[in-house]
Amino acid sequence: MKLAILTGGGDCPGLNAVIRAAAKTAILEHKAEVVGVKDGFEGLIHGRFRPLAYMDVSGILAEGGTILGTSNRANPFKYPFTSAAGEARFEDVSDRCVENFRKCGADVLIVIGGDGTMSIAHGLGKKGIPCVGIPKTIDNDLRGTDRTFGYDTAMRIAAEAIDMLHTTAQAHHRVMIVEVMGRNAGWIALGAGVAGGGDVVLIPEIPYDIQHITSYLLERRSKGKRFSIVVVAEGAKPAGGEVVVSRRVADGAEPIRLGGIGAKLCEEIEDATGMESRAVVLGHLQRGGPPTPFDRVLATRFGYEAAKAAMGGKEGIMIGLHGTEIGTVPMEEAAGGQRLVEPDCHLMRTARAVGTCFGDGILYLP
Ligand code: F6P
Repeated sequence: MKLAILTGGGDCPGLNAVIRAAAKTAILEHKAEVVGVKDGFEGLIHGRFRPLAYMDVSGILAEGGTILGTSNRANPFKYPFTSAAGEARFEDVSDRCVENFRKCGADVLIVIGGDGTMSIAHGLGKKGIPCVGIPKTIDNDLRGTDRTFGYDTAMRIAAEAIDMLHTTAQAHHRVMIVEVMGRNAGWIALGAGVAGGGDVVLIPEIPYDIQHITSYLLERRSKGKRFSIVVVAEGAKPAGGEVVVSRRVADGAEPIRLGGIGAKLCEEIEDATGMESRAVVLGHLQRGGPPTPFDRVLATRFGYEAAKAAMGGKEGIMIGLHGTEIGTVPMEEAAGGQRLVEPDCHLMRTARAVGTCFGDGILYLP
């Protein structure tokens, strides 16, 4: 048998660990051949492949990025091109994917990606490309799995940044605001906020009121805490207000990129409280560098299970973590939208119980 592997969407720590595990399982356990698709769906559209032998996937476990390359613009069902008049237009080029997949001689395709990638793979499955999915994203917002790989690493990077900001915030008696990624989901902000002891944590799932935040910060100061840490998800927004957009991507599968809420809050907090404030944006640092041991293990388990399923003739499914077990779900479940933070989940209740302010007026004070 021949297995093809593709990494789609934004990169994330652990992609190479998955590629390694899936390819090694196919080569060693199933005596199969493996081929990599270059640059995500861009490579499938243009027929760009590279053979993956055992030695190609050896020594990459701890490397960030992806040896295959990726793209978060190339949706074969909505492929961007510029018309002669200079306008951004979209075209369905999915038949080219089917043709190139057949030409490369693979029997099945492992797609590693987020909800966008799963939705494309689901569509390609209907056109005759057998696909098995693996959930990837630092945002941890995929349906059908309790965890995506990459999230633990992003959370660690953000939590370490909060640790470092604590010392400078304390020294200068400032409010330090740290803006983290996550799109419209608050998993990174919540996880890193709890791990780093953020005083205020703002997530997209709970619209905030700036007055609740500023009165909490003043209250903290009156109790002797002369500094505070605010962790804000890039997708957080005030009640009745809008998210802050940093740029529009005309030819992207997703038309906007979030960013700038940290700077906005910084100004508002300083104006309302008189407390000196500074904002830091962690940005793509959260997607860089080596994956944590947790992500390496999860990625390796996902890769093994996906190769086993693919070699066993399964298709149209996504591998997932369910509790502590690895299982599968229909791919369309993952393609059906984002998995957001439940405002009443255990971690939220825990955070509130230790005094975290979510900017919504529900607060336990000492
Ligand atoms: O989905 C992963 C992610 O890092 C989001 O958290 C973020 O909003 C987005 O991708 C950034 O995309 P880009 O790499 O295109 O700037």
